[in-house]
Amino acid sequence: MSKRVALLGGVVLAAACSDEELVDGIFTQQQWVQIQELSPLPEPPLDPTNRYQRDPLAAALGHRLFFEAAYAGPLQVGDDGRNGGLGMPGDTGKIACASCHEGPWLIDLRTNPNNVSLGANIIPRNAASMVNVAYYSPWIENDGLLDSLWSEAMVDVEFDLGFNSSRLRLAHVIYERHREGYEAAFGSLDPALDPTHAEAARFPADARPGSPEWDAMTPEDQDHVTEIFVNFGKALHAYLDRLVSRDAPFDRYVAGETDAMSPAAKRGLQLFVGKAACVECHATPHFSDDDFHNTGLAATGPFISTEEQGRYDRIDFLLAHEFNSSSRWSDDRSTGRLDGVVKDEALIGTWRTKGLRHVAETAPYMHSGQFATLEEVVEFYDQGGHDEGFHGTKDEIIQPLNLTTDEKADLVEFLASLTGRELPPELLREPSD
Ligand code: HEC
Ligand code: HEC
Repeated sequence: MSKRVALLGGVVLAAACSDEELVDGIFTQQQWVQIQELSPLPEPPLDPTNRYQRDPLAAALGHRLFFEAAYAGPLQVGDDGRNGGLGMPGDTGKIACASCHEGPWLIDLRTNPNNVSLGANIIPRNAASMVNVAYYSPWIENDGLLDSLWSEAMVDVEFDLGFNSSRLRLAHVIYERHREGYEAAFGSLDPALDPTHAEAARFPADARPGSPEWDAMTPEDQDHVTEIFVNFGKALHAYLDRLVSRDAPFDRYVAGETDAMSPAAKRGLQLFVGKAACVECHATPHFSDDDFHNTGLAATGPFISTEEQGRYDRIDFLLAHEFNSSSRWSDDRSTGRLDGVVKDEALIGTWRTKGLRHVAETAPYMHSGQFATLEEVVEFYDQGGHDEGFHGTKDEIIQPLNLTTDEKADLVEFLASLTGRELPPELLREPSD
C-alpha cells in the first residue's frame, strides 16, 4: 500500500475519531499535509513579462549565449596564479555566464576564495546555482535586486564587477556570431551592425547609456540596440527555464516510495516541519517562500561587506530600474509586482529565502558563502542566529532550537535527500554545432 493511500486512510480516521494515526510511524497528519506541499516540483512558474520564456528558438539561443565570452569587457583583476582569474588585466572576451555557473549544479567552481566570484573584478557574493533557479518568482538574487529572470541575465553585462561590458559590445557579438539564431527567434538585425557596412558608424563598438558615443546615436538606433540587449536577457531566461532537476529521494518518498529516504533523513524531515520550524520560510516545492527574512546573520568572510543591509539597500534600484516589470521592455506591465514595494525599515538586514534543492552540492552557504558545510548552517540555526553584528531585527521565528547532536545530523541528512537528478549533459555544455 502506498503512502498516499495510507494518508487518505489516516485522514478519514482522523475525521472519524480524534485518534491521530502517524504517517510512516513518524509524521502527524498535519505535518504530512505540510510535507505534501513540498513535493512534487511542478513546472517553473510562467512569467508573462517574458513572452519568449517557453520559446524553443529563444532557449536554443540562450543556451549558446550562456557559454559566449566574446562580449566581455576588460578584466580589472587578472589571474594572480591562485585566484582563478580569467586572464591578464585589460584582457577582453574572457568572461561567460558559464565562467561562474558551471559543473552539474552550475555554480562557481573556479574562484578562490570560493565564497565570492571573480569576473572582471570580485563580486562580493556567493554565486548561485542555476539549477531550478527558474522557480524563484518574482524576486531574483539574494537581495531581490530584480523582479524577473530576464532582467537578471542582463544586469551583469554592464556591471563593472561582472562583465564590465556594454550593450553595444554585446549587440556586435550577437550580430557577428549569433545572427542566425537571433533572427530566427526575434526578427531581423540592422545590417549596419556589421563593422564593414557603409553606415557602421551608427553603431559604435563600445557604448552604453551615459557614454558620449551613446548620446551621439539616434533614439531609433539606441532602441534597436537596447531591444537586442533585452532579447538577450529573454533568451537566457528561456534557457534557464529548462534547467530543472526533480526526483530527489525526498520526492520519491512523498510519492509513496517508503524506502527512498533513510530513517535519519525522515527524522530530519520531521524536525524540518516540526521543532526546527525551517518550513516557516523554506516552504513550497522549491523550498523558498520567495520572501525576505532576517536570520540574524553577521556577514563575514574574504571580500564580504559588513555594511550590506540586504533587501533594504536595493529597493531604490529596483523601482527605478530600466528593465523592471513595469518598464516598456516588459511584455506584461500589469503584473503589479512592484505595487506596495517601499523602502521600509523592516527590510533592513533581510535576504531572500534560498531554495534548498540540491543544497548538499552547492557549498559554501548563505549570500556571503561564509559557511563551508551544512553542519555549520544547522549549527547557526540551532544557536538562533548570531548574537550581534547583523543589521536590523532578527525574525522572531529565529530562536535557539536546542537540538541534540543526533538531531543536527538528522537535519543534514534530510537536506542531502533533496538532491534531484542531474540535468542531461547536453544542457550543461556548449552546443557543439
Ligand atoms: C563573475 C561571476 C558571474 C558571472 C560571469 C555571472 N554570474 Fe550569475 N551570479 C553570480 C553571483 C555571485 C550571483 C549571486 C548574486 C546575488 O544573488 O547576490 C549570481 C546570481 C545569478 C542569478 C540569480 C540567482 C538567484 O538565486 O536569484 C542568475 C539568474 C544568474 N546569476 C544568471 C547569470 C547569467 C545568465 C549570466 C551571464 C549573462 C551570469 N549569471 C554571469 C556570479 C556570476
Ligand atoms: C525566518 C526564515 C528562515 C527560517 C526559519 C530558516 N531559514 Fe534557512 N534561510 C533563510 C534565508 C533568508 C536564507 C538566506 C540567508 C542569506 O543568504 O543571508 C536561508 C539560507 C539557508 C541555507 C543556505 C542555502 C544556500 O544555498 O546558501 C540553508 C542550508 C538553510 N537556510 C537551511 C535552513 C534550515 C535547516 C532551517 C531550520 C533549522 C532554516 N533554514 C530555517 C530563511 C530561513
